[in-house]
Amino acid sequence: MNARAQGERDSAAAARPARQINVVLRSQDAASGAAASGSEALAAGRGLPSSGPWALWQQELERMVGLDNVKELVYEIYALLQIAQYRGDAGLHSQAHVYHMIFRGNPGTGKTTVARLLAKLFQSMGLLSKGHLVEVERADLVGEYIGHTAQKTRDLVKKALGGVLFVDEAYSLARGGEKDFGKEAIDTLVKAMEDHRNQFVLILAGYPLEIDMFMMTNPGLPSRFPIQMDFPDFTVDQLLQIAEGMARERDYVLMPQAVAKLKQNVLQEKEAAGHPFSNARYVRNMLERAIRNQAVRLLQQYPSASPSRQELVGIRPEDLKPLPAAGTQAGPAFGWGFN
Ligand SMILES: Nc1ncnc2c1ncn2[C@@H]1O[C@H](COP(=O)(O)OP(=O)(O)OP(=O)(O)O)[C@@H](O)[C@H]1O
Ligand SMILES: [Mg+2]
Repeated sequence: MNARAQGERDSAAAARPARQINVVLRSQDAASGAAASGSEALAAGRGLPSSGPWALWQQELERMVGLDNVKELVYEIYALLQIAQYRGDAGLHSQAHVYHMIFRGNPGTGKTTVARLLAKLFQSMGLLSKGHLVEVERADLVGEYIGHTAQKTRDLVKKALGGVLFVDEAYSLARGGEKDFGKEAIDTLVKAMEDHRNQFVLILAGYPLEIDMFMMTNPGLPSRFPIQMDFPDFTVDQLLQIAEGMARERDYVLMPQAVAKLKQNVLQEKEAAGHPFSNARYVRNMLERAIRNQAVRLLQQYPSASPSRQELVGIRPEDLKPLPAAGTQAGPAFGWGFN
């Protein structure tokens, strides 16, 4: 963080009345109390509005498997926004809250999906005007010469105004140390958070350990991101549930033997050392590959007639084939783009 940005912030803070409340939502506490307070709050949420933004939005959130602590935190954010509206209507003082966040989790644990849902929630609750998500990583922010990075970063912030700017693998911005242009990107983001207060929400995401290190290398950062969400790895059962849900959404059904085979494969893959397991993304890639394999199998089986509905729907164990090694898991050059 540069001295200029710090100085500007200090003088701005001195000039401003102390109105801003930082909401500290500790996901650790939420996780440990998830069984009681989490489900109670969510149950209360379910009992609350039967229409309107939350009701609509909750359906999408509920479709996600697991993530109890994330759902609980999201509900708290909704409650805060709703009560702020009621307070405003009643002529009570409305506090400006800080909604910038840190998402900590391994690949494929739902970070981008939740960020997209949050952007929509913020928009429907009137906090953000557009509710879109601009997802970037180091290469999008960092330029090749002095001044280039600040410009690139400012342009992306501009694009994200009214929505959410989601910086994936945020740690990579601090990787190169003081002389790296990544630092310029961080400084520019911090300044943008001041200049465009309440006009966008910044989410920094990454692997848990790396995010922790990133926060340690930038002492000014943690207080700017009062909301931290942890995205734990899914259990094998949750991954199977996710796979079955994804198949259902696409009008396919995994036959029981296919589920058993997938389970075996996921167990092996989770235990395989050497590359990070990509959780829900892994099962999605497995399913998409199985769908392609099923199409080829059916066409060979029924070269000149339509297979039965049952055949069209069923994914058999022989359709499930192990994915290529990590890094090439996106599969062949075509995809369904279900992100
Ligand atoms: N809890 C969940 N329930 C059902 N599907 C999920 C869940 N979490 C993620 N998915 C699905 O898994 C896929 C990957 O999720 P997403 O892209 O949100 O993960 P990510 O944490 O952003 O991954 P990465 O770190 O690799 O960018 C998406 O298709 C998403 O819909
Ligand atoms: Mg992502």
